[in-house]
Amino acid sequence: MHDTIKKGDGGKMKKVYLDNGATTMIDPRVIKKMTPYFSDKYGNASSTHSFGRDAKQAIEEARAAIAKTINAKPDEIIFTSGGTESNNFAIKSIAFTNKDKGNHIIVSKTEHKCIMNACKWLEKQGFKITYLKVDKEGFVNPDDLEKAITKTTTIVSVLHGNNETGTINDIKKLAEICKKHNIYFHTDACQSYTKTDINVKKQPVDLITLNAHKIHGPKGVGALYIRKGTKIDIWQHGGAHEFDMRAGTENIHGIVGFAEAAKIAMNKKYIKHMSRLRDMLIEGILKIPKVKLNGPKGNKRLCNNANFSFKGIEGEAIGGYLDTKGIASSTGSACSAKTLESSYVLMAIGLSHQDANGSLRLTLSRFTTEEEIEYTLKVLPGIVNSLRRISPLWEE
Ligand SMILES: Cc1ncc(COP(=O)(O)O)c(C=O)c1O
Repeated sequence: MHDTIKKGDGGKMKKVYLDNGATTMIDPRVIKKMTPYFSDKYGNASSTHSFGRDAKQAIEEARAAIAKTINAKPDEIIFTSGGTESNNFAIKSIAFTNKDKGNHIIVSKTEHKCIMNACKWLEKQGFKITYLKVDKEGFVNPDDLEKAITKTTTIVSVLHGNNETGTINDIKKLAEICKKHNIYFHTDACQSYTKTDINVKKQPVDLITLNAHKIHGPKGVGALYIRKGTKIDIWQHGGAHEFDMRAGTENIHGIVGFAEAAKIAMNKKYIKHMSRLRDMLIEGILKIPKVKLNGPKGNKRLCNNANFSFKGIEGEAIGGYLDTKGIASSTGSACSAKTLESSYVLMAIGLSHQDANGSLRLTLSRFTTEEEIEYTLKVLPGIVNSLRRISPLWEE
């Protein structure tokens, strides 16, 4: 998909983007759908004239389209500025709105930074947080969740598809436990949305975080699914937008793009394509000595995620060398890629500091080609060998 680009020396270097867990390319069909909302259809959806009415209609059509992808009702979808806002909205607002019932919250140890940091802040406000351990593949054990529930628990939040390890938690089972105990269950589905089934009629989840930029939609737009009847107050105050649940002039071009991206991504053929290339990549990389896969194999893993630990070398160094070959990778979630701390997610699945620091994440998209995987498999062993040769940590 990605064209060969000219280097400064006039030579040519292939560009391969394998960091789709961080963000994705916007699908040209999505851009086409969004374009009129930057030029002709620029009205404010709160205005009553024809420009405003057009904008309002676009939002409502997008809301219905997003709702359909998870079998929800349109008025259960609240548009937000993305995954971070939806996660903050869900956990903080439920915590405060239901404070009369209790101050206990349960999350897993492998949540995205935005849930983790929201929880740290909630602790300062007097809430008690239980951080559930996960097994060596990153799964939350439903029995552990049930044991952690107390009379004061109000909300449980467990990530659906993990951004680092690709682990897909069984949200149906976890949500059923919460339902039995009359506790709200929230899941962050930014990575799993359209890549594995989400159906609120079958999975009794109360709140779901979604965003657009992981599914070839624009950045800065997302949604929070809120099941009808959920006791939750507005968190961001202002005008009466989004059923009086989230104030702020709507990001209409973003919302339109989000819905178009979701509709396109629902085609199951893309899951098949990504899974096949992911398995080809995993199989190829595991042929390199002393490399291990982090997270599970098969259909309990996100179809676009591969994460490895390379003995004796740093993931950062591998990523740097891959970059010189035109291949974009990552060593953790994008939000922590600039820090030198070991990934708390990889530590939670039991990796040593050394193995966590030797990790590399390669994440695919529906635009990834077999040729790009072959190219990656061709250049990676040489990089690993060269780095090991000069590594003081490497022993044959
Ligand atoms: C699992 C998960 N949750 C939340 C987010 C944050 O979403 P956004 O970038 O839309 O704020 C991300 C993106 O990095 C993510 O991977």
